[in-house]
Parts: sequence; C-alpha cells; structure tokens
Amino acid sequence: MDNRIIIFDTTLRDGEQALPASLSMKEKCQIALALERLGVDVIEAGFPVSSPGDFASVQEIARVVKDSTVCGLSRALEKDIDACGEALRVAEQFRIHTFIATSDIHVSNKLKKSQDDIVDMAVAAIKHARRFTDDVEFSCEDAGRTHIDYLCRMVENAIKAGATTVNIPDTVGYTTPTEFGGIIGQLFNRVPNIDKATISVHCHNDLGLAVGNSLAAIENGARQVECTINGIGERAGNCSLEEIAMILNTRKAKFGLETKIDTQEISRTSKLVSQLCNMPVQANKAIVGANAFSHSSGIHQDGVLKAQNTYEIMTPESVGINKNNLNLTSRSGRHVIKHRLAELGYQSQDYDLESIYTLFLKLADKKGQVYDYDLEALLFFDQQKQEY
Ligand code: KIV
Ligand code: ZN
Repeated sequence: MDNRIIIFDTTLRDGEQALPASLSMKEKCQIALALERLGVDVIEAGFPVSSPGDFASVQEIARVVKDSTVCGLSRALEKDIDACGEALRVAEQFRIHTFIATSDIHVSNKLKKSQDDIVDMAVAAIKHARRFTDDVEFSCEDAGRTHIDYLCRMVENAIKAGATTVNIPDTVGYTTPTEFGGIIGQLFNRVPNIDKATISVHCHNDLGLAVGNSLAAIENGARQVECTINGIGERAGNCSLEEIAMILNTRKAKFGLETKIDTQEISRTSKLVSQLCNMPVQANKAIVGANAFSHSSGIHQDGVLKAQNTYEIMTPESVGINKNNLNLTSRSGRHVIKHRLAELGYQSQDYDLESIYTLFLKLADKKGQVYDYDLEALLFFDQQKQEY
C-alpha cells in the first residue's frame, strides 16, 4: 500500500465556518499562502455557493496558490457544483468536493429522503462534478453513524460514478479509534473497487478523539487526512494538522508513512491562524501550545540540560521554534539557574551560586515565575550585600 499520506487542510472551510466573525479575502489568501508554504496537498478554500464573499475568496485563492490543489465544497446539487467549477477554474489544479449525509438520523430527519434517493443524488452530483475536473471528492456526511452496509453501498457507487477520493467523516466526533479504524477496515474488505479511489477521513473532536480516530483510520488504509491548523472547526473542532503531521514524523519508524508537510513551518502557520482568526491556542496544546516545549520541574530541567531527549520526543526546532523554554520557578534546581545565568553572560566565578539560589527560592515562592530581569536583579542585590 502507498506510504504517502495526503494532507487536506480545511482551515478555510470547516475552520472558518466556526468563527464568530468571517475572515476577509486578504486574510484568507494570507492563510492559503501559508498553507501552501507548509506543504499542504489540498487546500479547501471555502464553500463558493454559500455567499458572494466566499465565492470571491475561493476564486482569489485559486488564482494565487500554485503548488497545492485548491478545493471548493458543494452539496450534492448542480448549482453548488457549478459555483465550485466557476470559482475554481482559474486554478493550476483544483478539486470539487461534493457531499451528502448518509446516516439514518440525517437521511430521515434532515434530508427526508429514502436511502435510494441519496445514492442517486450522490451519483448524479459526482458525474456532474466530473464535467469540470477529473479530481472529484465525495463525502458521506455522518459516516461515523451510518450503517456499515449502506456505507459500503455508497462508497462503491461513488467510486463507480467517478469519485477519485471518497471521504469518510466522523461528522459529530462520536466514534472511538477502534470503531472508526474498524469502519475503514471493513470498507477495504467489502467494497470491491476500493483501490480505484483514495480513502480519506475527516474527524471531529467532540470527544477529543479526532486525531486518535484519524490515526486509527490511517492504520486501516486511509491515505488522506482532513484537518485544520490548531484543530479549529465546528464545535470542538477538527483533527489538528500539526498533531497528525508530527505523529507521523516523530513515529516514522512505527508507521513508515510520509507527508509533504515542512514541519518547520508549523509554528508560524499556527500563530498566523490564531491571530487572524482571533482564536487563542491553549497553553498546553500539543505541538503549538506555549508550554509544548517548556519544562518546569527541576528534575525535568536538569534532564533536558544533560540530554534533550530525556523529556523531549521531538525538538522545538523541528516545528520552527528556536529553542525550548525552562521556566524558572520554585521547582527549578541550581543547574538551571547556573545555565540561565551563563546564557545571560555571567560566569560562575562572578557570583555565589548558593547565595543566589537561596534568594531565588524566596522570590519564586512569592512570585511564581522568575524572569531573567529578576535573576539579574538578584545578582545585583547579592553583590551589593557582599560589598557593604
Ligand atoms: O464534518 C463533515 O461531515 C463535513 C463534510 C462536509 C465533509 O465537514
Ligand atoms: Zn466537518
């Protein structure tokens, strides 16, 4: 089986639709260009039929992005697909992504149609999209809660109709990794023509399992992952791009899979998306949180100063951060104080470590975090004390 994982980014579609205020066209283009630099294979730029503004943004992104495939979303309706085709035709390479819900809950309560009608609508939509491009993706919305027999039927028909990528979304983040991986495994066992398309997954994070479910799907044969920067998206968000990319990168020996992501672009892309979307990243967020490469306890700080891999499974440099951060707190030991003073230009013969460390602990107990300027003030205070 192919060892390449296609990274399909939907920050500008699933991510953007969940923001309280929409992004301007200029902001969307800035993000699209950052995603292209990051090495994303497919950028889902928006939902062209949804508004004139979205149409114009998708069109502009299609014009400026050269190295990634630009994609637009459409329901399984001709007018949506036509809007996608029209917005995207200026692109170097583009994809039309069409979807319809397949779970009983959605088919009977939302669409109020029969299962046969849904298959017919999906087939017609895919065939219509193929008039514009050979690169057509079809999604079975709420696949995670779709009966497996019907899901197999949908996937088989979608591929027959010409879908080159078939996406299996866990739209409401309901499944667990064993279940979701099992769904993908069953598709590979049961759908006769499955090797004619790329199987993709799109996991939401309602139970905090979006990344785990995407990984389980990859282990069962999925070769495209849909994700967003910082995991932004509807409700609790989507599978986070930086997490899935760094799992595959850090555990290459285990999975043997490659992405085209330039991991050193991760940090600045995350910051750009956070700022433009006005969505702060939680401090303890994996890979891109402010604390992801910070060490606080004395034992950990001493460990990383002796050998970085004692408490770091990947380097900060590998995701584009200059260096790790050793927080100076009352849990810090003498080793880190000496190290920080050396970084600030003080040699060990310039000060009395025991005396500075005693002053440091007193201050840290009162203040919590001790900053470089505090440390320099303590040095000065200690020298004054010795002189008088
Ligand atoms: O979550 C979902 O099912 C979606 C589809 C449109 C792919 O976003
Ligand atoms: Zn989604």
